[in-house]
Amino acid sequence: MTDTTDTTELTDTTGHTAPAGPVAFPQDRTCPYHPPTGYAPMRGAPGLSRVTLYDGREVWAVTDQDTARTLLADPRLSTDRTRPGFPVPTERFARAARERRVALLGLDDPEHRTQRRMLIPSFTLRRAADLRPSIQRTVDGLLDTMLEQGAPADLVSAFALPVPSMVICGLLGVPYADHEFFEEQSRRLLRGPAPEDTLAARDALEGYLGGLVDAKARGTEPGDGVLDTLVREQYGEGALDRRDLIALAVILLVAGHETTANMISLGTFTLLRHPDRLAELRADPALLPAAVEELMRMLSIADGLLRMALTDIEVAGTTVRAGDGVLFPTSVINRDPRQYADPDTLDFHRASRQHVAFGFGVHQCLGQNLARAELEIALGTLIRRLPGLRLAAPADEIPFKPGDTIQGMLELPVSW
Ligand code: HEM
Repeated sequence: MTDTTDTTELTDTTGHTAPAGPVAFPQDRTCPYHPPTGYAPMRGAPGLSRVTLYDGREVWAVTDQDTARTLLADPRLSTDRTRPGFPVPTERFARAARERRVALLGLDDPEHRTQRRMLIPSFTLRRAADLRPSIQRTVDGLLDTMLEQGAPADLVSAFALPVPSMVICGLLGVPYADHEFFEEQSRRLLRGPAPEDTLAARDALEGYLGGLVDAKARGTEPGDGVLDTLVREQYGEGALDRRDLIALAVILLVAGHETTANMISLGTFTLLRHPDRLAELRADPALLPAAVEELMRMLSIADGLLRMALTDIEVAGTTVRAGDGVLFPTSVINRDPRQYADPDTLDFHRASRQHVAFGFGVHQCLGQNLARAELEIALGTLIRRLPGLRLAAPADEIPFKPGDTIQGMLELPVSW
């Protein structure tokens, strides 16, 4: 299917001349829903590519979907950022990786498996289905307020950020009253201007969540969230120490709202830039699950998963040596022309579900069932209740996030 309505001034993924030598990573996108034009030499390339990180280090880049899924499921690749020589995408993350413990995503099995098992019951498909009515109430409440206040509105602050923020607070047992504090710290953690911001934000979040879990352990902040269950069943029983409990709380809170917020804002922007697809979705809401999957593939907002090889690995005609860094640029992998015909086109009728936008293997996103439920309800309700939804500023003047962070809109002025 060809999209005839996507205007082209933001889009420049074709016709790029490949520069000689490795591609620099990360780069900023020129259009928020397409990979950076500078990644063009990697697109459809046979075997593994080479990329250069911010510090001049060269690592391998995996660009075809089959090899990506094979390697992301390979235990010979580590995600433990405290290992000497672990590749990091920016200076900001370099110190944080060395100096701060990351739960789940920063651990290899068997430690990773132990933590993941504690959380699986709270993130099943069933659990996400049970949460749908309350997610729907949250979405409706926020849209009621936005409509009452009248157009124009910034969809990021009025809707895209508070939806997942409220949902994850309810699920974890974190008071939403503190949202301004933890949203600000998450923002600093992921894209503060200096490396010190990342560390300071991490400390602030640890201090806040440490106080919260202590209060839950004392019984002065009772609740029925995931953190309450962890405190009672794991911390109380000695299976989890305080430091790991706090590290888990940090990743759940940050990953639980930042990513989904970006998908809602960028997903809305992308739909508004593809009026034919938006009309198709409005006419047939049964397409929503497929549309969410296709938006996940196309937007690939977590664009650059990193690993380090623990031993030599033969793959795609290459020997990846022990200690080598391996990058998974999801925006490139999810547009693998060997898997997706016309990969730059938004098409709700293609089989998108094999994408790696939630990762793959043992670290595949723990919150994916929840995220899918939130996206279906948020995007579905938004386009149903606001039939006249439109951008309230020229598309190319709306700011989006830089390439070294989770992709998304910084603000999204809309009218209806
Ligand atoms: C659309 C929104 C989301 C996207 C695009 C996303 C993306 C990802 C990706 C790509 C990974 C794997 C990273 C890697 O392998 O290096 C991941 C892991 C993870 N995500 Fe999500 N995520 C989203 C929503 C959520 C939500 C709502 C939660 C809720 C708590 C969450 C929690 C996590 C956790 C805890 C991990 C680490 C899992 C592990 O290491 O076992 N994510 N996510």
